[in-house]
Amino acid sequence: MKDRLNRQINYMRLSVTDRCNLNCFYCRPEDDHNFIPAEETLTYDEILRLVRLALELGINRFRLTGGEPLLRPDLAEIILALNASPGIKDLSLTTNGLLLEENLDRLWRAGLRRINISLDTLDKDKYAAITGSNSLDKVLRAIKLALAKGFNPVKINVVLLKGINEDIDDFINLAYLLPLHIRFIELMSFPHRDGYFVSANKLLKKLKKTGQLNLIKLPGSGPARYYRLPGMKGSLGFITPYSHHFCHNCNRLRISAQGELRTCLFADKTYDLKKLLRNGASDEAIKDFFTYVLSEKPLNWLQAGRIKRNESMRSIGG
Ligand code: GTP
Ligand code: 5AD
Repeated sequence: MKDRLNRQINYMRLSVTDRCNLNCFYCRPEDDHNFIPAEETLTYDEILRLVRLALELGINRFRLTGGEPLLRPDLAEIILALNASPGIKDLSLTTNGLLLEENLDRLWRAGLRRINISLDTLDKDKYAAITGSNSLDKVLRAIKLALAKGFNPVKINVVLLKGINEDIDDFINLAYLLPLHIRFIELMSFPHRDGYFVSANKLLKKLKKTGQLNLIKLPGSGPARYYRLPGMKGSLGFITPYSHHFCHNCNRLRISAQGELRTCLFADKTYDLKKLLRNGASDEAIKDFFTYVLSEKPLNWLQAGRIKRNESMRSIGG
């Protein structure tokens, strides 16, 4: 499936819940305490129908996100069904890792083989200050268990925050010790968090000066660029929507937990898929809708408009 810029759209990010068991200060506006009612969340059947239609359109890479996707009781069933869908090329999960330890076996049995885990710091106090939770040890245990179980690649998402986690030496050391792929992500600028931005490209340029950074390829469908320093078991990745744009290569569509289709993470505009699903639309009508929506995918983030003031990443799915 191609859009009007001839970009191949083959990656769908599906948020399966807007609930989260962390409270990261940068992820939401101050007054964001409202979760969508359970009945407004896409059901198992609705998700599977969308996946089937997306596959028919050539979208064959899927990521389950949240909120925190492990809060959804039927997550393993969704993964099992997705894995069994003919034509699927890539399936992964983005989680904060809090409930991962006790769910790793179930996820593995459902066929999941790779995982991305959000972890912004390796310092206990900073972790608690960012997330409002004292669960760093639990997340670290889950990461090690995931590696031991054979998940591969295991990627770590670090959202860079000025004055909080700009010093990435701990993470660099970790990539020497363990086969973890640690990605430094530029903070998406919501109006209420503008002061925290750090350029990941600047960090990358500094590392490049060592002359030892090697560009590598990793399995994945997203925009990260990965590098390895000699002797590293893992790698360092950079996701730089602001300082090094990747819109010309964008391959993504997003579906929120309440069934809104979004063509760009930066877009204000959403398209109500759930209404179609719940009003008896035919498969053809839904596929036509996807095609129409894609024709409106913005050329780049500047054209996409700004995120609404009261929107949180939790509801968009990262
Ligand atoms: P793989 O490459 O398949 O492992 O996954 P991914 O990196 O696409 O998935 P993940 O959910 O781990 O995404 C990490 C972060 O990358 C997201 O939370 C966003 O911050 C950022 N990101 C991913 N896609 C986009 C995009 O289209 N635009 C922008 N601005 N940021 C994105
Ligand atoms: N900017 C960039 N990434 C963000 N995430 C949450 N909020 C933001 C933001 N404002 C990331 C999380 C997680 C992913 C799903 O989204 O850290 O890795």
